[in-house]
Amino acid sequence: MAKTNSFSCTACGATHSRWSGRCDACGEWNTIAQEVPLSSGPASKSLGSKRGQPIPLSTLSAEETPPPRTMCGVTELDRVLGGGLVPASAILVGGDPGIGKSTLLLQAAARFAGAGLKTIYVSGEEASAQVRMRARRLGLSDAPVQLAAETNLRNILTTLEAEKPGLAIIDSIQTMWADNVDSAPGSVSQVRAAAHELTSFAKRHGVSIVMVGHVTKEGQIAGPRVVEHMVDTVLYFEGERGHQFRILRAVKNRFGPADEIGVFEMTGAGLAEVTNPSALFLSERGAPSPGSAVFAGIEGTRPVLVELQALVAPSPLSQPRRTVVGWDSGRLAMILAVLEARCGIPFAGLDVYLNVAGGLKISEPAADLAVAAALLSAREDAALPADTVVFGEISLSGALRPAPQTENRLKEAQKLGFTAAIAPAGGKTGTVAGLTLARPADLIGFVGETFGAG
Ligand code: TYD
Ligand code: MG
Repeated sequence: MAKTNSFSCTACGATHSRWSGRCDACGEWNTIAQEVPLSSGPASKSLGSKRGQPIPLSTLSAEETPPPRTMCGVTELDRVLGGGLVPASAILVGGDPGIGKSTLLLQAAARFAGAGLKTIYVSGEEASAQVRMRARRLGLSDAPVQLAAETNLRNILTTLEAEKPGLAIIDSIQTMWADNVDSAPGSVSQVRAAAHELTSFAKRHGVSIVMVGHVTKEGQIAGPRVVEHMVDTVLYFEGERGHQFRILRAVKNRFGPADEIGVFEMTGAGLAEVTNPSALFLSERGAPSPGSAVFAGIEGTRPVLVELQALVAPSPLSQPRRTVVGWDSGRLAMILAVLEARCGIPFAGLDVYLNVAGGLKISEPAADLAVAAALLSAREDAALPADTVVFGEISLSGALRPAPQTENRLKEAQKLGFTAAIAPAGGKTGTVAGLTLARPADLIGFVGETFGAG
């Protein structure tokens, strides 16, 4: 009994009227699954002429006291939340399996409980004994967190209603089972229904609810995008498996700036916060070597210095490799094209590798000039001066645009012992004591000043 829209894509959430091997909305293969609609009635029915209740209207200027937030004391987490936990908010924490979500949330639960917030941790993935074992390893056995191992959503909501906690952690949304929905846990309709129930419960009962969500290999929270729209805050916990660094990134936040990051280090006794990420990201830098450039970036509200590494080598392939880790590959192609077209520096026949050290992902256009510097340094086999930071946006014409928050970037560089900066002229640029500033107007000027004639 195939109903209209009774199939949906588990990767992007698009609905389809019939099954097919490939989702034409996102292009993924084998992601379309049959869905039982949320309500068992017809998928959509016109509202008709039956009158509803009039709703009270108010003015924009009505007095609103900002909700009191609870700080847990882990500054990296409090900042990413926008300055502490907002009551009755729904938060989704996404990340790869094994990256440390359960560890982070158990530590956060202990801190929030310690800060006076009644906290319940519900694990749908592990038995209570396993969670207790982790708590012991983290030295949190005495924290006043209440623990349950349960997947039945109805039982969980009933318990939360009776216990009235200030914070509930649901680990994970993919293991939750709503008995009113006729499909397996982890399916799109179950994830959607569970997230919906939990979010509206949070609003109705004034409980902050944190849901853990696993991500697919494309880096999206498994299940429909609609879950991200439902909640107030979406945080991603990222990092490279081989690295100890973990980054908690706010990709959506109704109560604070998006793009804010918190940096942690995974140790034998759980996650430790890293309050000076620049020092950490630069700590592995050796002697100045060709292909390395230090980018002074801004992540959220905070300046972060990070090393960009490039390798340029003759390619045996007819179509040379372009491999990027931690940055946008389209943007790399653009910079290579600008270098070739505007400065006459070809990369044809050369493999190009670009890596952001420390496992950080950068999305700022202001990294353009640092990328160009790393590429040229690798190509010319000439190291950049070790005490110099680089930033600025490159336009297709080869002109350079100043980056926002130039002064914050320069101050951070100076704080970390850098003595020179290369940044485009123009814009409001304060000088920072102890830092010499080279200000090329365009890419050709930059190449000439930094690498001689190029
Ligand atoms: P976990 O929090 O279970 O990940 P997730 O919930 O995202 O799946 O963390 C799993 C990894 O973290 C595991 O490989 C072991 C490591 N780990 C530590 O290195 N130190 C610790 O103190 C803990 C608890 C875990
Ligand atoms: Mg887990």
